[in-house]
Amino acid sequence: MKNILITGGAGYIGSHICIKLRENGYQPVVFDNLSNGHRDAVASDIAFIEADIRDRAALNKAFTDFKPVAVIHMAALIEAGTSMVAPADFYAVNTAGALNLLEAMRQNGCKHIVFSSTAAVYGNRDTGLLSETLDIRAENPYGRSKAMVETMLADFASIYGFHAIALRYFNAAGADPMGRTGERHNPETHLIPLVLQTAAGQRDHIKVYGTDYDTPDGTCIRDYIHVDDLADAHLKALGFILSSETPALEIVNIGTGEGCSVKDIIVLCKEVTGRDFAVIDDARRPGDPAKLVANPAKANALLDWQPQYPSPRQIIEHAWKYYQSTLKNTR
Ligand SMILES: NC(=O)c1ccc[n+]([C@@H]2O[C@H](COP(=O)([O-])OP(=O)(O)OC[C@H]3O[C@@H](n4cnc5c(N)ncnc54)[C@H](O)[C@@H]3O)[C@@H](O)[C@H]2O)c1
Repeated sequence: MKNILITGGAGYIGSHICIKLRENGYQPVVFDNLSNGHRDAVASDIAFIEADIRDRAALNKAFTDFKPVAVIHMAALIEAGTSMVAPADFYAVNTAGALNLLEAMRQNGCKHIVFSSTAAVYGNRDTGLLSETLDIRAENPYGRSKAMVETMLADFASIYGFHAIALRYFNAAGADPMGRTGERHNPETHLIPLVLQTAAGQRDHIKVYGTDYDTPDGTCIRDYIHVDDLADAHLKALGFILSSETPALEIVNIGTGEGCSVKDIIVLCKEVTGRDFAVIDDARRPGDPAKLVANPAKANALLDWQPQYPSPRQIIEHAWKYYQSTLKNTR
């Protein structure tokens, strides 16, 4: 079986990808420092290396011990808001950490990589759907720390012969449809889990940051992509790079092409949970673009990928089911 090194595999998205990899004949090897992930999010019979991507010796040992045919690189600091006050941490982990990983790959003869990039590289635009051909206009250090990795990957592809794909995810949401894993960030900053925590009575209210954006209801619009569809996109991306003959970097949006506002999400959460709760309007947060919605045409054409769960209601239903199961487990 082919080993795949998955950095950040104990995190929200990574734990879903581990499940998909195994279901499709790959053997995941998780490399995660558990700074934000959970050991129990990864099945106990999956190889687990608790280490930091900035630790070259630990990376070298992982390549020597497991000889992965490819890397899925997800380990990163993910909070755009925090990056506005602590940018150095983001460049150290997300950018320098990625360079350390790429160098370890080069040293160990592994040249296939799927990289977790982000829609945050686009920033604020007047255009409709965002296509990969647009220039980089990240509004925060988080987005810039990821864009720099894309630049490095392009050079590693053209000069060192890497086969790379950067997936620019839009807003990952939902949970495994079978309830095996889901979103457990701590602290949580993502909208859907925050609203569901409020519906469950774990928070007094939900804040809406900015109601004066140039959008139909004044709140920010995002493209919510089911985490199971995201995991599926990684499988397709892996298949693509492993069968590609020519070294290259491909950059591919992973989103549905449909936007949903903050207010839309709150209404849907109230409907799905059947609960009412307080909603408080607040000021805009720095670094939040008004609208981020993918043009998913390249993912459809290049990877033959289509979302199976495009409905925000179904995304929320799966997230709610998983969240309720975590509440039961902690009682
Ligand atoms: N969640 C989203 O909506 C979203 C959107 C766009 C891009 N992304 C990207 O997807 C990836 C995964 O996101 P997520 O939501 O699953 O986040 P997450 O925080 O749940 O997972 C990240 C994992 O990386 C690990 N990690 C962090 N720093 C590390 C280090 N220095 N060494 C080793 N491991 C380290 C954490 O312990 C965690 O398990 C990230 O790269 C993120 O930037 C996420």
